[in-house]
Amino acid sequence: MDENKEQKEFWNDLKGELWVELQTRIDPMLSVFDQKLFEVLEAQSGERALEIGCGTGTTTLKMSECLGPSGSIHAVDFSRPMICRAQERASEASVDHADFVEADAQEYDYPSGEFDLAYSRFGVMFFQDPVKAFSKIRNAMKPGGRLGYICWADKSKNPWISEPAQVAKEFLELPKPPGEDEPGMFSMCREERIFEILEKAGWSEIKVEWFESTNMIGKNAEDAADFISRMGPMSEPFSEADEGQKQKTLEALSTFLKDRETPNGVQMGFGNWVVTAKRL
Ligand SMILES: C[S@@+](CC[C@H](N)C(=O)[O-])C[C@H]1O[C@@H](n2cnc3c(N)ncnc32)[C@H](O)[C@@H]1O
Repeated sequence: MDENKEQKEFWNDLKGELWVELQTRIDPMLSVFDQKLFEVLEAQSGERALEIGCGTGTTTLKMSECLGPSGSIHAVDFSRPMICRAQERASEASVDHADFVEADAQEYDYPSGEFDLAYSRFGVMFFQDPVKAFSKIRNAMKPGGRLGYICWADKSKNPWISEPAQVAKEFLELPKPPGEDEPGMFSMCREERIFEILEKAGWSEIKVEWFESTNMIGKNAEDAADFISRMGPMSEPFSEADEGQKQKTLEALSTFLKDRETPNGVQMGFGNWVVTAKRL
């Protein structure tokens, strides 16, 4: 049985091409998370790394620089459009020490005891059985191997996504959010759940650090409204809406976002957990 079928379809059929299209807009917004991940992982030149949910490969390319040509990365993702773009970008950048596997990270037959570090930028919240996924990832690590990932804290700590959704709700029928702990963007928002999953999966020295930042979601209110209407929960209802609904949504979003305009674009709050652990 394919436990992650729904998420696989979601990341292939609904979000895959969209993330490829929006990659150059998503990356500046999320680059602060790469910096944070690299800081906590303390990746060393020559190490062998495993990336979970590499998407379009931005963090993979940055990590490849960090590890140098004597290091290597094995990157896993089950979204064909996204991993194909990651592969293309690696070859455009002549990075030949990263390889890409199209696979479900929960089910993948990882080489055992192979990696010094495993990491993910927002790629580990979509498992139906996270304990199984993190146990497999743990077994893929060398003794002493480090895990580091970033995930979203509660919606209320992420006004960049929750507040525009409240505004858009008046004009669009937004999808019902997944239930608590169900696979989805906020499935790891509870700190206790992160500990519980990693403990059950056999990880040690688990640490969960609160990480708050303010990031630019658009150059100005109109630009941010356009971006946010195509990203996150409103992307499907917005793309299916008629022209009138689209215009009203964009106008309402722009009015709301106007107040958040600064000389450095529209700035909004992000709340995240930075998780680290070790295989002893
Ligand atoms: C929010 S995106 C993040 C992508 C990328 N890490 C980034 O920060 O740009 C989540 C990624 O995780 C991947 N993903 C989710 N569940 C997965 C699974 N079970 N196996 C492999 N990849 C998965 C998705 O296909 C998608 O590329």
